[in-house]
Amino acid sequence: MNSVLKIEDLHVKVGETPILTGVNLEVKQGEIHALMGPNGSGKSTLAYALMGHPKYEITHGKIEIGGVDLAELDACERARLGLFLAFQYPVTIPGVKVADFLRLAISNIRNPERKEGENLMPMREFRTELRQTMDQLNMDSEFARRYLNDGFSGGEKKRMEILQLAMLKPKFAILDETDSGLDSDAVRVVSEGLAKLSGPEMGVLIITHHERLLEYNEPQFTHVMLAGKIVETGDASLARELHENGYTEVRKRHPEEAALETEQETVAK
Ligand SMILES: Nc1ncnc2c1ncn2[C@@H]1O[C@H](COP(=O)(O)OP(=O)(O)OP(=O)(O)O)[C@@H](O)[C@H]1O
Ligand SMILES: [Mg+2]
Repeated sequence: MNSVLKIEDLHVKVGETPILTGVNLEVKQGEIHALMGPNGSGKSTLAYALMGHPKYEITHGKIEIGGVDLAELDACERARLGLFLAFQYPVTIPGVKVADFLRLAISNIRNPERKEGENLMPMREFRTELRQTMDQLNMDSEFARRYLNDGFSGGEKKRMEILQLAMLKPKFAILDETDSGLDSDAVRVVSEGLAKLSGPEMGVLIITHHERLLEYNEPQFTHVMLAGKIVETGDASLARELHENGYTEVRKRHPEEAALETEQETVAK
């Protein structure tokens, strides 16, 4: 049965500052959603709240996967329910090879009862699966022998992200691609990789300013966030319109939220 990631009237604050003020969003397995919005509108905040980052306090509303409330679950338990966040492991872990990391992650997700140090996925089975997946993605097998994110270029970090997606096969993938420092090669890696991997089993929420990503992965739904709320939802044509014209028209259509934006900026200054 298809599962649903459901966000209901979500309010999130950071410290004393309310950032999200009532977000509603439903992503079903197999759907591609784009989340757009000007800088500072709260997109990454939503992603962090989904992950359960301790700095992002949920003051009202809830997040559910397949009817299970995520409130009390840590990042690992959320991953077991099928949630994947692209920035979840951006850290460099010296001494841990890509392959070892993936084997541990996959063992945790596939065997929820696993205790630390026990029941790793059998090496041979893992190696075969890893090799097949890397072939499918046209990746050099040498990559799996490198240390995790250590000296990875932007493009290689993105390859790692796609390899994780392919191996972990999450039900819901949240990709926060805000890094404007990505060169066109890196953007192509995610765009093409995601297009290869998404399908009826995976629901995707793409947070991005990159036009290319959405060209390769046409969203069925585009949501626009303004001052901590989703103010509009449309289809792929809305994403195209925003890429061409920016947010001026959206702000005119939602003067109340636009006013809040300027207010927040004044407070920040
Ligand atoms: N850890 C934090 N500490 C303080 N303020 C924060 C924190 N995280 C987010 N904020 C504030 O919340 C607001 C929303 O930020 P957020 O990063 O969610 O925006 P965004 O939509 O992802 O923007 P961008 O398009 O630039 O990535 C901003 O005003 C930001 O300063
Ligand atoms: Mg962001």
